[in-house]
Amino acid sequence: MASLSLDKVSKIYGPRRQAGVLAVRDLTMRIDDGEIVGLLGSSGCGKTSTLRMIAGFESVTQGEIRIGDRRLNDLPPAQRGVAMAFEGYALYPPLRIEDNIAFGLLRARMPKAEVARKVADVARLLEIENILGSYPSTLSGGQQQRVSLARALVRGADLHLLDEPMSQLEPQLRAILRARIKDYLIEHKMTTVFVTHDQTEAIALADRIAIMEAGELQQLASPEDLKEKPANLFVASFVGEPPMNLFPAEVDSNNAIQVINRADEKAFSIDLDGAGDAAAQILHPGRKIHLGIRPHRIRVGPVGVNDGANAVARGMLLSNQWLGDQSHLGINVGGCFMIAVSDRDVALRTDEAVDVSLPFGALHVFDRDDERALLHGMSPAEA
Ligand SMILES: Nc1ncnc2c1ncn2[C@@H]1O[C@H](COP(=O)(O)OP(=O)(O)OP(=O)(O)O)[C@@H](O)[C@H]1O
Ligand SMILES: [Mg+2]
Repeated sequence: MASLSLDKVSKIYGPRRQAGVLAVRDLTMRIDDGEIVGLLGSSGCGKTSTLRMIAGFESVTQGEIRIGDRRLNDLPPAQRGVAMAFEGYALYPPLRIEDNIAFGLLRARMPKAEVARKVADVARLLEIENILGSYPSTLSGGQQQRVSLARALVRGADLHLLDEPMSQLEPQLRAILRARIKDYLIEHKMTTVFVTHDQTEAIALADRIAIMEAGELQQLASPEDLKEKPANLFVASFVGEPPMNLFPAEVDSNNAIQVINRADEKAFSIDLDGAGDAAAQILHPGRKIHLGIRPHRIRVGPVGVNDGANAVARGMLLSNQWLGDQSHLGINVGGCFMIAVSDRDVALRTDEAVDVSLPFGALHVFDRDDERALLHGMSPAEA
């Protein structure tokens, strides 16, 4: 196949365009041949609507969808070369599982022996060999979901769309299957768009992840870039667990960032001397920003132990929890509540004063008005 392109695609549900529900707005993205892209976003943000428009089960209100230079908008689903696993499974009740999976292949006149081999392969992959002779109504949700996924994976279509393909499975099986599915997709060079609520799943499966919110694409980037270079405040707060610490702040006339707490008072300040040219240009006095730092980039230690970080603020340890493989520390710094994560068990007691190190290289700065990223570390965000 060639790449999939969506060009300013919008979806409005309802009889009259003006009065309807705007489910997807001006969505533009390009997915390369063989690429695996995850759509990640909260419930109702337009993920399923996007997949259904690509597959042809919903009309496109505005914009254009293409595979290579083939325009899909007006083609019926069967002529698009797109296979989809639906959120609600949509299995054929009168057909046995085996026949549900084989249906599309037989319709495409694939020889029976080859169909049988492909069905057996995918059944083994998804651990549903034991139910091939059953009917859909006798299966659990997780089994039905895997059958729906199997049916989409065997198709060998130009494009595979998977809507929450593993949401019903228990965590262990999900972790095993997503590794296998990833291998399968790569081995068969399958161009894939999948939907998920689960960040770990998105990161584990996808080459790139599209973050959607309220019908709009926020950022399409590699998992690493989403964490290190979030395009805006929404992506910064949405991606990452625990989420990025974010505080409103303002640059003062002494070249320092004044961080503001919930009571709208100054909580602590970060002296920008030595922060570099990009910071000096962007962080001019009076500029209103949001300051962000990821929990695992904050270091917490006893008072007075300076580990060489560029900025150190005095705080109070509110909580210290060892989770078996990492510690989560809750800290109050001048009325700002922040979370730090350490991969060691930290020997600090709650209600103790602590010093909190915030390296320049870990700071993210966003504009307070339009919420776009300005700086990642002390480098310009667009670089
Ligand atoms: N057939 C429909 N008619 C009217 N509105 C719809 C229809 N389908 C979806 N919507 C609305 O469009 C918006 C996007 O829905 P969509 O199903 O695409 O979200 P989603 O991101 O897949 O959510 P979830 O994670 O809950 O599956 C929602 O506000 C939803 O209520
Ligand atoms: Mg959905």
